[in-house]
Amino acid sequence: MVTAVIVGAGHRALTYASYSKAQPDKLKIVGVADPIALRREQVAAQYGLSPAQCFESASALAAKGKIADAVINGTMDRDHVSTTLPLLDAGYDVLLEKPFAVTEAEVHTLDTAVKRTGRKVMICHVLRYAPFYTALKQRVLAGEIGDIINIQTAEHVSYHHVVIGYVRGKWHRKDLCGSSMLMAKCCHDLDLISWFKSGIAPKRVASFGGLHYFKRDHAPVNSGEHCLLDCPIENDCLYSARKHYLDHPQRWSFYVWAGLEHIQNPTLADKEASLKEKSNPYGRCVWKLDNNVVDRQSVLIEFADGSTATHNMVGGCSKGERKIHIVGTRGELHGSIDEEKYRIRRIDPRPGHECDEVEHSLRHEGDTTGAFGGHGGGDLRLVADFVAALEGRQPSISCTVLADSVNGHLIGFCADRAMEQNTIVEF
Ligand SMILES: NC(=O)c1ccc[n+]([C@@H]2O[C@H](COP(=O)([O-])OP(=O)(O)OC[C@H]3O[C@@H](n4cnc5c(N)ncnc54)[C@H](O)[C@@H]3O)[C@@H](O)[C@H]2O)c1
Repeated sequence: MVTAVIVGAGHRALTYASYSKAQPDKLKIVGVADPIALRREQVAAQYGLSPAQCFESASALAAKGKIADAVINGTMDRDHVSTTLPLLDAGYDVLLEKPFAVTEAEVHTLDTAVKRTGRKVMICHVLRYAPFYTALKQRVLAGEIGDIINIQTAEHVSYHHVVIGYVRGKWHRKDLCGSSMLMAKCCHDLDLISWFKSGIAPKRVASFGGLHYFKRDHAPVNSGEHCLLDCPIENDCLYSARKHYLDHPQRWSFYVWAGLEHIQNPTLADKEASLKEKSNPYGRCVWKLDNNVVDRQSVLIEFADGSTATHNMVGGCSKGERKIHIVGTRGELHGSIDEEKYRIRRIDPRPGHECDEVEHSLRHEGDTTGAFGGHGGGDLRLVADFVAALEGRQPSISCTVLADSVNGHLIGFCADRAMEQNTIVEF
Protein backbone atom coordinates (compact mmCIF):
# COMPACT_ATOMS: atom_id res chain seq x y z
CA MET A 1 0.00 0.00 0.00
CA VAL A 2 1.33 3.42 -1.00
CA THR A 3 0.64 6.31 1.37
CA ALA A 4 0.25 9.89 0.13
CA VAL A 5 -0.38 13.43 1.36
CA ILE A 6 -2.58 15.81 -0.65
CA VAL A 7 -0.74 19.08 -1.27
CA GLY A 8 -3.15 21.72 -2.60
CA ALA A 9 -6.60 20.33 -1.82
CA GLY A 10 -8.31 21.69 -4.93
CA HIS A 11 -10.34 20.06 -7.65
CA ARG A 12 -7.43 18.24 -9.33
CA ALA A 13 -5.64 16.78 -6.32
CA LEU A 14 -8.95 15.54 -4.90
CA THR A 15 -9.74 13.84 -8.21
CA TYR A 16 -6.45 11.91 -8.06
CA ALA A 17 -6.85 11.19 -4.34
CA SER A 18 -10.25 9.60 -5.04
CA TYR A 19 -8.32 6.61 -6.44
CA SER A 20 -7.76 5.63 -2.81
CA LYS A 21 -11.52 5.22 -2.38
CA ALA A 22 -11.80 2.95 -5.43
CA GLN A 23 -8.61 1.01 -4.53
CA PRO A 24 -8.21 1.28 -0.73
CA ASP A 25 -5.65 -1.54 -0.65
CA LYS A 26 -3.38 0.33 -3.08
CA LEU A 27 -3.41 3.98 -1.99
CA LYS A 28 -4.09 5.58 1.38
CA ILE A 29 -4.37 9.34 2.01
CA VAL A 30 -2.58 10.12 5.28
CA GLY A 31 -2.38 13.90 5.27
CA VAL A 32 -3.30 17.20 3.67
CA ALA A 33 -1.47 20.51 3.21
CA ASP A 34 -3.42 23.59 2.13
CA PRO A 35 -3.55 27.18 3.43
CA ILE A 36 -7.37 27.17 3.23
CA ALA A 37 -8.75 25.88 6.55
CA LEU A 38 -12.11 24.86 5.05
CA ARG A 39 -10.38 22.68 2.43
CA ARG A 40 -8.17 21.06 5.09
CA GLU A 41 -11.24 20.35 7.22
CA GLN A 42 -13.18 18.87 4.30
CA VAL A 43 -10.31 16.55 3.37
CA ALA A 44 -9.76 15.58 7.01
CA ALA A 45 -13.44 14.64 7.30
CA GLN A 46 -13.37 12.65 4.04
CA TYR A 47 -10.21 10.70 4.82
CA GLY A 48 -10.43 10.50 8.61
CA LEU A 49 -7.34 12.63 9.30
CA SER A 50 -6.34 13.98 12.71
CA PRO A 51 -5.22 17.62 13.20
CA ALA A 52 -1.61 16.33 13.36
CA GLN A 53 -2.01 15.14 9.77
CA CYS A 54 -3.12 18.56 8.48
CA PHE A 55 -0.63 21.25 7.43
CA GLU A 56 -1.00 24.86 6.35
CA SER A 57 1.44 24.60 3.45
CA ALA A 58 3.76 22.34 1.51
CA SER A 59 6.74 23.80 3.36
CA ALA A 60 5.12 23.09 6.77
CA LEU A 61 4.66 19.48 5.65
CA ALA A 62 8.27 19.28 4.43
CA ALA A 63 9.50 20.70 7.74
CA LYS A 64 7.76 17.83 9.53
CA GLY A 65 9.88 15.29 7.62
CA LYS A 66 8.60 12.27 5.75
CA ILE A 67 5.19 11.02 6.93
CA ALA A 68 4.21 9.21 3.70
CA ASP A 69 5.70 7.70 0.56
CA ALA A 70 4.44 10.40 -1.76
CA VAL A 71 2.60 13.65 -2.24
CA ILE A 72 -0.09 14.47 -4.77
CA ASN A 73 0.73 18.06 -5.68
CA GLY A 74 -2.33 19.83 -7.10
CA THR A 75 -1.33 23.40 -6.33
CA MET A 76 -1.74 26.07 -9.02
CA ASP A 77 0.71 26.40 -11.92
CA ARG A 78 3.11 28.93 -10.47
CA ASP A 79 3.38 27.04 -7.13
CA HIS A 80 4.38 23.68 -8.63
CA VAL A 81 8.16 24.02 -8.45
CA SER A 82 8.42 26.05 -5.23
CA THR A 83 6.18 23.60 -3.34
CA THR A 84 7.87 20.49 -4.79
CA LEU A 85 11.51 21.38 -4.06
CA PRO A 86 11.34 21.12 -0.22
CA LEU A 87 9.22 17.97 -0.50
CA LEU A 88 11.85 16.28 -2.69
CA ASP A 89 14.48 17.18 -0.11
CA ALA A 90 12.24 15.71 2.60
CA GLY A 91 12.24 12.40 0.68
CA TYR A 92 8.84 12.38 -1.02
CA ASP A 93 8.07 11.04 -4.48
CA VAL A 94 5.68 13.42 -6.23
CA LEU A 95 2.69 13.20 -8.53
CA LEU A 96 2.79 16.73 -9.92
CA GLU A 97 0.18 18.64 -11.89
CA LYS A 98 0.89 20.16 -15.25
CA PRO A 99 2.25 22.50 -16.39
CA PHE A 100 4.95 21.39 -13.96
CA ALA A 101 6.83 24.68 -14.42
CA VAL A 102 5.98 28.18 -15.64
CA THR A 103 9.40 29.10 -17.12
CA GLU A 104 12.25 27.31 -18.85
CA ALA A 105 14.45 28.13 -15.83
CA GLU A 106 11.96 26.35 -13.55
CA VAL A 107 12.05 23.27 -15.81
CA HIS A 108 15.81 23.02 -15.29
CA THR A 109 15.61 23.77 -11.55
CA LEU A 110 13.15 20.94 -11.01
CA ASP A 111 15.01 18.54 -13.31
CA THR A 112 18.26 19.20 -11.40
CA ALA A 113 16.54 18.67 -8.01
CA VAL A 114 15.01 15.38 -9.18
CA LYS A 115 18.40 14.11 -10.36
CA ARG A 116 20.09 15.27 -7.13
CA THR A 117 17.54 13.71 -4.76
CA GLY A 118 16.88 10.60 -6.85
CA ARG A 119 13.14 10.90 -6.14
CA LYS A 120 10.40 10.02 -8.63
CA VAL A 121 8.37 12.87 -10.07
CA MET A 122 5.53 11.95 -12.41
CA ILE A 123 3.67 14.66 -14.30
CA CYS A 124 -0.12 14.58 -14.65
CA HIS A 125 -0.14 14.23 -18.42
CA VAL A 126 -3.37 12.33 -18.09
CA LEU A 127 -4.04 12.10 -21.83
CA ARG A 128 -1.16 9.64 -22.28
CA TYR A 129 -3.24 7.29 -20.13
CA ALA A 130 -6.48 7.66 -22.06
CA PRO A 131 -7.03 4.37 -23.93
CA PHE A 132 -7.36 6.39 -27.15
CA TYR A 133 -3.80 7.77 -27.05
CA THR A 134 -2.34 4.61 -25.48
CA ALA A 135 -3.69 2.59 -28.42
CA LEU A 136 -2.05 4.98 -30.90
CA LYS A 137 1.26 4.77 -29.02
CA GLN A 138 1.13 0.96 -29.03
CA ARG A 139 0.64 0.96 -32.81
CA VAL A 140 3.50 3.41 -33.29
CA LEU A 141 5.79 1.31 -31.06
CA ALA A 142 4.80 -1.83 -32.98
CA GLY A 143 6.04 -0.11 -36.16
CA GLU A 144 2.62 -0.31 -37.82
CA ILE A 145 2.91 3.06 -39.58
CA GLY A 146 6.71 3.07 -39.97
CA ASP A 147 8.75 6.09 -38.92
CA ILE A 148 6.77 9.21 -38.04
CA ILE A 149 7.30 12.04 -40.52
CA ASN A 150 4.52 14.40 -39.39
CA ILE A 151 2.05 14.86 -36.53
CA GLN A 152 -0.95 17.19 -36.63
CA THR A 153 -2.86 17.83 -33.44
CA ALA A 154 -5.73 20.22 -32.76
CA GLU A 155 -7.60 21.26 -29.67
CA HIS A 156 -10.89 22.99 -30.26
CA VAL A 157 -11.68 24.64 -26.95
CA SER A 158 -15.43 25.07 -26.67
CA TYR A 159 -17.06 28.50 -26.22
CA HIS A 160 -17.98 27.71 -22.59
CA HIS A 161 -14.58 26.19 -21.78
CA VAL A 162 -12.53 29.07 -23.18
CA VAL A 163 -14.41 31.65 -21.13
CA ILE A 164 -14.55 29.69 -17.87
CA GLY A 165 -10.77 29.19 -17.88
CA TYR A 166 -9.14 31.85 -20.01
CA VAL A 167 -11.45 34.88 -20.11
CA ARG A 168 -13.33 34.94 -16.81
CA GLY A 169 -11.36 32.27 -14.97
CA LYS A 170 -8.14 31.39 -13.18
CA TRP A 171 -5.91 31.33 -16.26
CA HIS A 172 -7.05 34.65 -17.77
CA ARG A 173 -3.76 36.52 -17.15
CA LYS A 174 -0.29 35.07 -17.53
CA ASP A 175 1.13 37.67 -15.11
CA LEU A 176 -1.22 36.35 -12.40
CA CYS A 177 -1.36 32.57 -12.92
CA GLY A 178 2.08 32.12 -14.47
CA SER A 179 0.92 30.19 -17.55
CA SER A 180 0.07 31.19 -21.07
CA MET A 181 -3.09 29.65 -22.49
CA LEU A 182 -0.92 27.36 -24.64
CA MET A 183 0.87 26.00 -21.57
CA ALA A 184 -2.22 25.77 -19.37
CA LYS A 185 -4.43 24.19 -22.00
CA CYS A 186 -2.21 22.47 -24.54
CA CYS A 187 0.97 21.37 -22.76
CA HIS A 188 -0.87 18.02 -22.96
CA ASP A 189 -0.91 18.09 -26.77
CA LEU A 190 2.73 19.24 -26.95
CA ASP A 191 3.55 16.41 -24.55
CA LEU A 192 1.72 13.91 -26.77
CA ILE A 193 3.67 15.08 -29.81
CA SER A 194 6.96 14.73 -27.86
CA TRP A 195 5.87 11.32 -26.55
CA PHE A 196 5.13 10.02 -30.04
CA LYS A 197 8.56 11.38 -31.09
CA SER A 198 10.17 10.03 -27.91
CA GLY A 199 13.98 10.11 -28.02
CA ILE A 200 14.09 12.70 -30.84
CA ALA A 201 14.88 16.25 -29.78
CA PRO A 202 12.88 19.23 -31.02
CA LYS A 203 15.03 21.51 -33.18
CA ARG A 204 13.07 24.69 -33.84
CA VAL A 205 9.64 26.18 -33.28
CA ALA A 206 7.48 28.91 -34.84
CA SER A 207 4.09 30.12 -33.64
CA PHE A 208 1.31 32.60 -34.43
CA GLY A 209 -1.66 33.57 -32.35
CA GLY A 210 -3.16 36.22 -30.17
CA LEU A 211 -6.13 37.55 -28.27
CA HIS A 212 -8.56 38.63 -30.95
CA TYR A 213 -12.16 37.91 -30.01
CA PHE A 214 -12.62 38.23 -26.26
CA LYS A 215 -11.85 41.93 -26.00
CA ARG A 216 -13.78 45.19 -25.95
CA ASP A 217 -13.85 45.73 -29.75
CA HIS A 218 -16.15 42.73 -30.09
CA ALA A 219 -18.61 43.60 -27.32
CA PRO A 220 -22.14 43.62 -28.77
CA VAL A 221 -23.69 47.08 -29.17
CA ASN A 222 -25.48 48.15 -25.95
CA SER A 223 -23.97 45.33 -23.87
CA GLY A 224 -23.42 45.98 -20.15
CA GLU A 225 -20.54 45.14 -17.85
CA HIS A 226 -22.26 42.46 -15.72
CA CYS A 227 -24.60 39.95 -17.36
CA LEU A 228 -27.18 39.79 -14.57
CA LEU A 229 -26.96 43.41 -13.41
CA ASP A 230 -26.85 45.86 -16.26
CA CYS A 231 -26.92 44.10 -19.63
CA PRO A 232 -29.97 44.86 -21.83
CA ILE A 233 -28.91 42.31 -24.46
CA GLU A 234 -28.19 39.42 -22.04
CA ASN A 235 -31.14 37.42 -23.36
CA ASP A 236 -29.65 37.33 -26.86
CA CYS A 237 -26.01 36.80 -25.84
CA LEU A 238 -24.19 33.49 -26.41
CA TYR A 239 -21.96 34.22 -23.41
CA SER A 240 -24.57 35.22 -20.84
CA ALA A 241 -23.46 34.10 -17.36
CA ARG A 242 -27.04 33.00 -16.70
CA LYS A 243 -27.01 30.70 -19.73
CA HIS A 244 -23.52 29.34 -19.03
CA TYR A 245 -23.76 28.81 -15.28
CA LEU A 246 -27.33 28.94 -13.98
CA ASP A 247 -28.85 27.02 -16.89
CA HIS A 248 -25.95 24.49 -16.56
CA PRO A 249 -25.24 24.54 -12.79
CA GLN A 250 -23.07 21.37 -12.88
CA ARG A 251 -20.91 22.38 -15.84
CA TRP A 252 -17.50 23.64 -14.58
CA SER A 253 -19.08 23.79 -11.10
CA PHE A 254 -15.67 23.37 -9.38
CA TYR A 255 -14.54 26.66 -10.92
CA VAL A 256 -17.62 28.82 -11.04
CA TRP A 257 -19.05 27.92 -7.63
CA ALA A 258 -15.69 27.73 -5.76
CA GLY A 259 -16.68 30.96 -3.97
CA LEU A 260 -19.66 29.10 -2.42
CA GLU A 261 -17.61 26.26 -0.91
CA HIS A 262 -18.55 27.45 2.58
CA ILE A 263 -22.21 26.60 1.85
CA GLN A 264 -22.88 22.86 1.97
CA ASN A 265 -25.48 22.63 -0.78
CA PRO A 266 -25.79 26.01 -2.48
CA THR A 267 -29.18 26.63 -4.06
CA LEU A 268 -29.80 28.18 -7.45
CA ALA A 269 -30.69 31.39 -5.59
CA ASP A 270 -27.27 31.33 -3.83
CA LYS A 271 -25.63 30.88 -7.22
CA GLU A 272 -27.59 33.68 -8.84
CA ALA A 273 -26.72 36.00 -5.94
CA SER A 274 -23.05 35.07 -6.32
CA LEU A 275 -23.08 35.88 -10.05
CA LYS A 276 -24.66 39.25 -9.24
CA GLU A 277 -21.74 40.26 -7.04
CA LYS A 278 -19.73 42.86 -8.94
CA SER A 279 -16.46 41.31 -7.78
CA ASN A 280 -17.34 37.89 -9.27
CA PRO A 281 -15.57 37.59 -12.65
CA TYR A 282 -17.91 34.75 -13.71
CA GLY A 283 -20.76 37.28 -13.87
CA ARG A 284 -18.83 39.73 -16.04
CA CYS A 285 -19.14 40.49 -19.76
CA VAL A 286 -16.61 38.33 -21.62
CA TRP A 287 -15.63 41.26 -23.84
CA LYS A 288 -14.95 43.70 -21.00
CA LEU A 289 -12.55 41.88 -18.69
CA ASP A 290 -8.80 42.33 -18.20
CA ASN A 291 -7.83 38.96 -19.74
CA ASN A 292 -4.54 39.01 -21.62
CA VAL A 293 -3.93 35.40 -22.70
CA VAL A 294 -4.53 34.41 -26.33
CA ASP A 295 -7.76 32.90 -27.60
CA ARG A 296 -6.06 31.05 -30.48
CA GLN A 297 -2.54 29.89 -31.25
CA SER A 298 -0.86 27.69 -33.84
CA VAL A 299 2.51 26.02 -33.30
CA LEU A 300 4.91 24.58 -35.89
CA ILE A 301 7.73 22.27 -34.75
CA GLU A 302 10.69 20.68 -36.52
CA PHE A 303 12.48 17.73 -34.90
CA ALA A 304 16.15 16.74 -35.20
CA ASP A 305 15.27 13.87 -37.58
CA GLY A 306 13.55 16.29 -39.99
CA SER A 307 10.02 15.29 -39.01
CA THR A 308 7.53 18.10 -38.44
CA ALA A 309 4.47 18.69 -36.27
CA THR A 310 1.74 21.28 -35.89
CA HIS A 311 -0.68 22.06 -33.11
CA ASN A 312 -3.72 24.28 -33.51
CA MET A 313 -5.43 25.60 -30.39
CA VAL A 314 -8.71 27.33 -31.20
CA GLY A 315 -10.81 28.90 -28.47
CA GLY A 316 -14.52 29.59 -28.86
CA CYS A 317 -15.61 26.53 -30.88
CA SER A 318 -19.18 25.26 -30.77
CA LYS A 319 -17.91 21.89 -29.46
CA GLY A 320 -14.73 20.95 -27.63
CA GLU A 321 -12.65 18.34 -29.43
CA ARG A 322 -9.08 16.96 -29.53
CA LYS A 323 -7.91 15.49 -32.82
CA ILE A 324 -4.68 13.88 -33.98
CA HIS A 325 -3.27 12.71 -37.31
CA ILE A 326 0.10 10.90 -37.33
CA VAL A 327 1.73 10.29 -40.70
CA GLY A 328 4.37 7.57 -40.93
CA THR A 329 6.46 6.15 -43.76
CA ARG A 330 4.12 3.12 -44.04
CA GLY A 331 0.76 4.54 -43.05
CA GLU A 332 -1.28 6.87 -40.86
CA LEU A 333 -3.22 6.99 -37.64
CA HIS A 334 -5.95 9.56 -37.15
CA GLY A 335 -8.91 10.18 -34.92
CA SER A 336 -10.62 12.17 -32.21
CA ILE A 337 -10.50 11.25 -28.54
CA ASP A 338 -13.96 12.76 -28.15
CA GLU A 339 -15.39 10.33 -30.71
CA GLU A 340 -13.48 7.49 -28.98
CA LYS A 341 -12.37 6.02 -32.28
CA TYR A 342 -9.44 6.17 -34.65
CA ARG A 343 -8.52 4.88 -38.10
CA ILE A 344 -5.34 3.20 -39.19
CA ARG A 345 -4.52 3.52 -42.85
CA ARG A 346 -1.65 1.67 -44.57
CA ILE A 347 -0.03 2.11 -47.96
CA ASP A 348 -1.19 -0.71 -50.26
CA PRO A 349 0.40 -0.52 -53.71
CA ARG A 350 -1.19 -3.73 -55.07
CA PRO A 351 -3.08 -3.48 -58.37
CA GLY A 352 -6.56 -2.11 -57.75
CA HIS A 353 -5.63 -0.78 -54.30
CA GLU A 354 -4.32 2.50 -52.87
CA CYS A 355 -4.41 1.98 -49.13
CA ASP A 356 -6.28 -0.10 -46.60
CA GLU A 357 -8.14 1.59 -43.79
CA VAL A 358 -9.63 0.11 -40.61
CA GLU A 359 -11.65 1.92 -37.95
CA HIS A 360 -11.18 1.01 -34.28
CA SER A 361 -13.65 2.01 -31.60
CA LEU A 362 -12.59 2.34 -27.97
CA ARG A 363 -16.07 2.36 -26.52
CA HIS A 364 -15.65 -1.24 -25.35
CA GLU A 365 -12.92 0.01 -22.94
CA GLY A 366 -15.68 1.03 -20.54
CA ASP A 367 -14.65 4.65 -20.17
CA THR A 368 -18.08 5.96 -20.97
CA THR A 369 -19.03 4.84 -17.45
CA GLY A 370 -16.53 7.34 -16.05
CA ALA A 371 -14.89 4.56 -14.02
CA PHE A 372 -11.42 5.94 -14.73
CA GLY A 373 -12.32 9.60 -14.44
CA GLY A 374 -12.06 12.47 -16.89
CA HIS A 375 -9.69 13.07 -19.79
CA GLY A 376 -10.91 10.02 -21.70
CA GLY A 377 -10.31 7.78 -18.69
CA GLY A 378 -6.75 9.05 -18.18
CA ASP A 379 -7.13 10.60 -14.70
CA LEU A 380 -7.26 7.52 -12.53
CA ARG A 381 -5.15 5.31 -14.82
CA LEU A 382 -2.37 7.85 -14.23
CA VAL A 383 -2.70 7.43 -10.46
CA ALA A 384 -2.68 3.63 -10.84
CA ASP A 385 0.58 3.90 -12.80
CA PHE A 386 2.10 6.25 -10.21
CA VAL A 387 1.28 3.73 -7.48
CA ALA A 388 2.74 0.90 -9.61
CA ALA A 389 5.94 2.88 -10.18
CA LEU A 390 6.30 3.49 -6.43
CA GLU A 391 5.77 -0.20 -5.75
CA GLY A 392 8.69 -0.90 -8.09
CA ARG A 393 6.53 -2.50 -10.77
CA GLN A 394 7.27 -2.04 -14.47
CA PRO A 395 5.99 1.42 -15.45
CA SER A 396 3.52 1.53 -18.35
CA ILE A 397 4.36 2.90 -21.81
CA SER A 398 2.49 6.06 -20.77
CA CYS A 399 4.72 6.74 -17.75
CA THR A 400 5.25 10.47 -17.45
CA VAL A 401 8.53 10.67 -15.54
CA LEU A 402 9.91 14.19 -15.46
CA ALA A 403 12.82 13.57 -17.84
CA ASP A 404 10.36 12.39 -20.51
CA SER A 405 8.06 15.39 -19.97
CA VAL A 406 10.65 18.10 -20.42
CA ASN A 407 10.59 18.38 -24.24
CA GLY A 408 6.86 19.06 -24.46
CA HIS A 409 7.13 21.88 -21.93
CA LEU A 410 10.19 23.39 -23.62
CA ILE A 411 8.34 23.37 -26.97
CA GLY A 412 5.52 25.32 -25.31
CA PHE A 413 7.80 27.96 -23.79
CA CYS A 414 9.69 28.33 -27.08
CA ALA A 415 6.41 28.60 -29.02
CA ASP A 416 5.22 31.42 -26.77
CA ARG A 417 8.55 33.19 -27.21
CA ALA A 418 8.38 32.68 -31.00
CA MET A 419 4.85 34.13 -31.10
CA GLU A 420 5.58 37.08 -28.79
CA GLN A 421 8.86 38.01 -30.52
CA ASN A 422 7.69 37.17 -34.06
CA THR A 423 10.65 34.89 -34.64
CA ILE A 424 11.72 31.25 -34.99
CA VAL A 425 13.19 29.80 -31.81
CA GLU A 426 16.03 27.27 -32.14
CA PHE A 427 16.67 24.79 -29.31
N1 LIG B 1 -4.00 17.42 -15.68
C1 LIG B 1 -5.00 18.11 -16.16
O1 LIG B 1 -5.57 17.77 -17.17
C2 LIG B 1 -5.45 19.37 -15.47
C3 LIG B 1 -6.76 19.86 -15.65
C4 LIG B 1 -7.13 21.03 -15.00
C5 LIG B 1 -6.22 21.70 -14.20
N2 LIG B 1 -4.95 21.19 -14.05
C6 LIG B 1 -3.95 21.85 -13.20
O2 LIG B 1 -4.18 21.44 -11.87
C7 LIG B 1 -3.66 22.43 -10.98
C8 LIG B 1 -4.64 22.67 -9.87
O3 LIG B 1 -5.85 23.21 -10.39
P1 LIG B 1 -7.13 23.31 -9.44
O4 LIG B 1 -8.22 23.91 -10.26
O5 LIG B 1 -7.37 22.00 -8.75
O6 LIG B 1 -6.56 24.39 -8.38
P2 LIG B 1 -7.21 24.93 -7.01
O7 LIG B 1 -6.95 26.39 -6.98
O8 LIG B 1 -8.61 24.44 -6.85
O9 LIG B 1 -6.33 24.20 -5.91
C9 LIG B 1 -5.04 24.60 -5.58
C10 LIG B 1 -4.92 24.50 -4.06
O10 LIG B 1 -3.56 24.72 -3.69
C11 LIG B 1 -3.57 25.37 -2.45
N3 LIG B 1 -2.24 25.95 -2.18
C12 LIG B 1 -1.75 27.16 -2.55
N4 LIG B 1 -0.50 27.33 -2.06
C13 LIG B 1 -0.18 26.19 -1.39
C14 LIG B 1 0.96 25.77 -0.66
N5 LIG B 1 2.05 26.53 -0.55
N6 LIG B 1 0.95 24.54 -0.09
C15 LIG B 1 -0.15 23.74 -0.20
N7 LIG B 1 -1.27 24.11 -0.87
C16 LIG B 1 -1.29 25.31 -1.47
C17 LIG B 1 -4.68 26.38 -2.60
O11 LIG B 1 -5.13 26.89 -1.38
C18 LIG B 1 -5.74 25.55 -3.31
O12 LIG B 1 -6.61 24.91 -2.41
C19 LIG B 1 -3.35 23.66 -11.84
O13 LIG B 1 -1.96 23.76 -12.03
C20 LIG B 1 -4.03 23.36 -13.16
O14 LIG B 1 -3.36 23.93 -14.26
C21 LIG B 1 -4.58 20.04 -14.66
